[in-house]
Amino acid sequence: MVVKNVKLNLKEITHNVFVAGNYIFTKSRYLPHYGEKKLNDLREWIPSRSKLASMLLEYRIEFDAEWKCLYLGAASGTTVSHLSDILDKGVIYAVEYSAKPFKKLLELAEERKNIIPLLKDASKPEEYSGIVELVDFLYQDVSQKNQVEIFLKNVDFFLKKGGSAIIMVKARSIDSTAEPEEIYEKVLEELRKKVKVIKYGELRHHKDHIFVHCIKH
Ligand SMILES: C[S@@+](CC[C@H](N)C(=O)[O-])C[C@H]1O[C@@H](n2cnc3c(N)ncnc32)[C@H](O)[C@@H]1O
Repeated sequence: MVVKNVKLNLKEITHNVFVAGNYIFTKSRYLPHYGEKKLNDLREWIPSRSKLASMLLEYRIEFDAEWKCLYLGAASGTTVSHLSDILDKGVIYAVEYSAKPFKKLLELAEERKNIIPLLKDASKPEEYSGIVELVDFLYQDVSQKNQVEIFLKNVDFFLKKGGSAIIMVKARSIDSTAEPEEIYEKVLEELRKKVKVIKYGELRHHKDHIFVHCIKH
């Protein structure tokens, strides 16, 4: 495959995810969703638009096509659309509380049958506990001051024992006056009280953010 006159040496890093240097793609039978390019059956995954794409360029996790996923902070579905390509035999419960981006998320869910959009507040999991089942994978990207509390509450409610969870931490949302490193230390301390932290690291395309990959005991 050739992009901008560069020949790509594509490598599949997990189900339906292909990487070549700084490029990342998901294999997809759907049309572009947010202005990304489509090259044959590969959809460009823009790392500056998706923290998960940025993370996967640096750090690998293994996805299973059949996983059930709870996604908190779905917005208009940029990252959800790629996860939907990856978990193509699974299901994604996509929670977003803002009506404006939710409209576009609904359009995405209409064409893709593995996305269940929920216009709900992620800090109140009890309000969707009748809909969402136990999941294998939980992903959170809500940029809120109390994002760790929201994350752990949802882990408690919905993540299977041994299940994987990723939280995208935005330092400036938690405290805009403290140094990011100070905030990360506090976040990690809070997380370690409840879950096993496997790995964390900075996101090259998203300033003052880290990902934290956890497992539920
Ligand atoms: C950084 S954006 C998410 C981008 C998206 N994850 C992606 O990669 O395509 C954060 C989103 O979280 C949503 N959000 C913030 N707090 C929330 C809450 N308590 N419940 C549900 N959604 C929330 C915001 O409305 C916003 O759309």
